[in-house]
Amino acid sequence: MTSPTLTVMINAARKAARGLQRDFGEVENLQVSLKGPADFVTKTDQRAESILQGELTKARPGFGFLMEEGGAVAGRDGEHCWLIDPIDGTTNFIHGIPHFAISIALERSGTVIAGVIYNPLSNDLFTTERGRGAYLNDRRLRVAARRNLSEAVVGCGIPHLGRGDQALFARELARLQPKVAGVRRFGSAALDLAWVAAGRLDGYWERGLKPWDIGAGILMVREAGGRAEDIASGDPLVTGDVLAGNDEIFQALQGEIVAA
Ligand code: IPD
Repeated sequence: MTSPTLTVMINAARKAARGLQRDFGEVENLQVSLKGPADFVTKTDQRAESILQGELTKARPGFGFLMEEGGAVAGRDGEHCWLIDPIDGTTNFIHGIPHFAISIALERSGTVIAGVIYNPLSNDLFTTERGRGAYLNDRRLRVAARRNLSEAVVGCGIPHLGRGDQALFARELARLQPKVAGVRRFGSAALDLAWVAAGRLDGYWERGLKPWDIGAGILMVREAGGRAEDIASGDPLVTGDVLAGNDEIFQALQGEIVAA
């Protein structure tokens, strides 16, 4: 049974998704222009965010927001806060790569209690609520059972121009590369975590993320029986560094990454 809160989140995501679907088609035309679709996509992003904010406010008027575009908006209720990323995977969107998602998480007193990650092109709808499991459409999710790094396909984020500690990432990758069955960089942290929850990826790590990128995904992995935590020992929503997998893969990856 989908709870009223999750229903509100799903409806908001589906409504915002319509604009993303339409504009993604347009991006393919803009791709050839010298300026590219970046400005156009900024507007798409803002429009989607304002639909999400409007729908969620209509249903839960007192709640606050932390949004990728609009920043923090305090709510009257002081307890609940929506974490919103209207397009997680913006670089993919701009480049016409069909892999991005809307991510919505709901925090209560600083703890994420519900999450929705929706890929509007594949129609993959990932949902979760604290204590009630994680789902892809109607299917209950469980993290992959592989225990050895040698069998594991691991997702990651690669710091690029102007972003993150590139030398550190290079050391981490150099340690892991010879030990795992494959490394992937798909370009949407929310979907990377949802894919760990779904057992498509055995593990995932990335540094320097924002709460709206990972709030929903972290709960999704935990509710699918996995671990999603800071790479060291902090709170990933504060440090922005996240590592995910089942317990064995989590520990094995952590050992390598921390030693890099
Ligand atoms: C980005 C994606 C990407 C990650 C970047 C994020 P955005 O989010 O999650 O996978 O590597 O660090 O910024 O900017 O597209 O919402």
